[in-house]
This record gives sequence, structure tokens and C-alpha cells, in this order.
Amino acid sequence: MEKVKHFLKLVDLSIDELSYLFDRAKIIKANYKSYKKTWTLEDRTLVMIFEKASTRTRLSFEAGMNQMGGNAVYLNTRDSQLGRGEPVEDAAQVISRMSDVVMIRTFEQDIIERFAKNSRVPVINGLTNEYHPCQILADIFTFIEKRGPIQGKKVAWIGDSNNVCMTWLQAAELLDFELHVSTPKGYEIEADVIDSNDNVFQYDEPMKAAKDADILTTDVWTSMGFESENKERLKDFANWQVDKKMINEAKKDALFMHCLPAHRGEEVSGEVIDGAQSVVWEEAENRLHIQKALLEYLLLGKQ
Ligand code: CP
Ligand code: NVA
Repeated sequence: MEKVKHFLKLVDLSIDELSYLFDRAKIIKANYKSYKKTWTLEDRTLVMIFEKASTRTRLSFEAGMNQMGGNAVYLNTRDSQLGRGEPVEDAAQVISRMSDVVMIRTFEQDIIERFAKNSRVPVINGLTNEYHPCQILADIFTFIEKRGPIQGKKVAWIGDSNNVCMTWLQAAELLDFELHVSTPKGYEIEADVIDSNDNVFQYDEPMKAAKDADILTTDVWTSMGFESENKERLKDFANWQVDKKMINEAKKDALFMHCLPAHRGEEVSGEVIDGAQSVVWEEAENRLHIQKALLEYLLLGKQ
């Protein structure tokens, strides 16, 4: 099989490719806003496979394909043969003969790795237990739009060391900014991961991680697939809410980010997420534009 370019982790792209995507997304977004067509994906079909719930990911990929002149097909494991035990490898063979690109939201990273190995077309990670690379593309694109290059900046992650956090970790190393992480005891990033990444710093105290940050960001305390731990997590994370006091520790012009959906009164106070420093709606919108650039790049290369 010919070598296909997948996007399963953020580090599947080089700095050069990421910079290209940020530049291209800016053009695609401006074109779209001024009713200029970017129909580079005319006749192409994206298949989206969901094993977990989604609002933004589904909508941004589906609308994005339409805006590029193509189509998107939605499958979920509940009503496709994937939910009845058809091997991932077989599904990949078939689905990739009927489509041009595939986006998958699933549990273990291993599932998309196995799918990708058997796919004739590019596979995009739309969130796994381990990573959420499309989200971090959108977040960094949003930062660049608002503040310019992220290199040398300081990002503070407050909360669970989950899929979104682990993707920030990869981004910090790749794009050379600092990531200051604070998680409750028992939820820390594994020591070997920290040790192998010079751009990441871990703190017991969330206020210390937040100090002088350019971006203050968090996510739900309980990710999809971990619902049985919810009660315990509510107790364990109680001191890790991003509130007004915490955002005041960050730089004066710091941006607050959250991949959404958010729980006001848990990981973030209403005052912060609905406040002047919050860019959560722009982040959500930018999923659309950066993913259009990503889809185009995986299918056609640089334009
Ligand atoms: N941020 C994000 O991926 O949102 P959805 O779960 O709604 O897709
Ligand atoms: N960490 C969250 C992100 C949701 C977009 C989850 O995996 O549920």
C-alpha cells in the first residue's frame, strides 16, 4: 500500500507543516467569511466514525467538508457493524475504499493506529483517550490570531492530565513554548513523560502553574469513558477550579481557553468562562477553519 499521511497525534506533523496549516487556515477562514469559495475538496467524501458523543467535532468536520465542496458521512458504532464486532482492520479496508479521508473519535489510541495501518486514505484523530490533536490545532491557531507566535510563551494547564493536556505537551515540545501543569495528587503526568520533555513543568499548587501565564486553560474533571470516577474526581479536583483569583495570577492580557463542553462551577467559574479574557467561542469556531486546512493538506498537500 502506498504511504498515506495520517494525523493521529500532533507530532505526526512537523513545525513546518503546522506553520503552513496556520497560514492556510487564515486564508481559508478569510475566504469563507467573504463568500469566496475554496472548493478544493469537490467530490471528496469524509467518513466520520464516532464511538463517543460530540457536538463541535461532528459539526466542524461536516460543515467544513461542505464548505470545501465535499461531503461528510456520519457513522456511529451503535448502529454500524463496528458495534457488532466487525474487526477494526476489516472496517478500515472497506471504509477507506469508499471514501477519501476518515475521522475517528474513539477510546484507546491503539484503535485508530490499527485502523490507520489498514486504511488506503488519511485517518484523522477526532479524540481518543490519549490525545485530541485537532483541538490543540484550533487552540494554537486562536492564540496566533489574537497574540502572534506561541514560541517562547507560557501556557498553564490546570486540572486533569487528560487527552487535551497530553496534546498540549506534544505541542509545547514541537513549537517550543512552556507548559506549566498542575494536577491534584494521583492525577499527575507520568514521570517518564515529564522527564523526556524539557518544555513541561509540573506543580502541586495550581496558583504556581498559573503565574504569569499567557494562556490559562483547563478541561472537564471527568473525561468521556471515565464517568464511573466522577464522584471521586469532584472531591479530588475541588481546589483546581480556574476562577477570578487564579486568572489574576496570569499575565494581564492572558487568554482563557477551554475545549468545551464546560461545567461552570467545577473546572471553571462562570465569571472566567464568560469574562473578557475568555476566547472559548473563537476556539470552537476555529475548529472549523483549521480542520479545513488539515483535510486539504492531507489530501492535496500544500496549495
Ligand atoms: N471540544 C470538542 O471536541 O467538543 P465535542 O466533544 O463537542 O466534539
Ligand atoms: N477531555 C474531554 C474532552 C472533550 C472534548 C473528554 O475526553 O471527554
